[in-house]
Amino acid sequence: MRRFLNRLPVLAALACGVVLIGWQVDAEPTRATMPDISKLVHYTTVTRGEVTEHIMTTREAIEAVKAGKPIPDGTHFALVDYRDGEVYRYFIMEKGPGWGADYDENRRTGDWHFQWYKPDGTINTAENTARCQSCHSSRADREFLYTFNDIRRFEFD
Ligand code: HEC
Repeated sequence: MRRFLNRLPVLAALACGVVLIGWQVDAEPTRATMPDISKLVHYTTVTRGEVTEHIMTTREAIEAVKAGKPIPDGTHFALVDYRDGEVYRYFIMEKGPGWGADYDENRRTGDWHFQWYKPDGTINTAENTARCQSCHSSRADREFLYTFNDIRRFEFD
């Protein structure tokens, strides 16, 4: 027992280390998952210098915006950022029932969660998605979307 007690600080330090490493790996977990990009409708492209962004969402979301209705839960938005013809990163938004309650009032962006996925489909754990929310919060009157009006203008083939 004595020997065990002597080792306790070491064990505690180890346990903390494991928790810390675990926490770092999931630095910014959110509920926003990677969608099946091939199933989304590409409704607008934004180019800025070397960057080409293909912006896409579901047909249902486009129809809802056009009809002036709320975007349905389960909707994904993807901003596929291309540099030199290759995917550089995926910026994802996903909306789910009551998801906004995960955040306090100051941070909340409706029921939208944000995530930055790398081309290999893993999360960029260095990002704090509070930054995404902070910028997108200025579009609260347009479903937190910057390209809201592009959706309204978009015509299906
Ligand atoms: C400084 C402001 C700013 C920050 C920070 C930001 N965005 Fe955006 N986002 C924009 C703008 C502006 C657009 C419209 C496209 C463009 O002009 O590049 C946009 C577009 C999008 C879109 C397409 C839907 C829409 O709103 O039009 C998604 C998805 C998106 N951002 C996700 C993210 C994610 C995920 C993050 C964080 C990793 C993030 N954004 C951080 C400004 C921002």
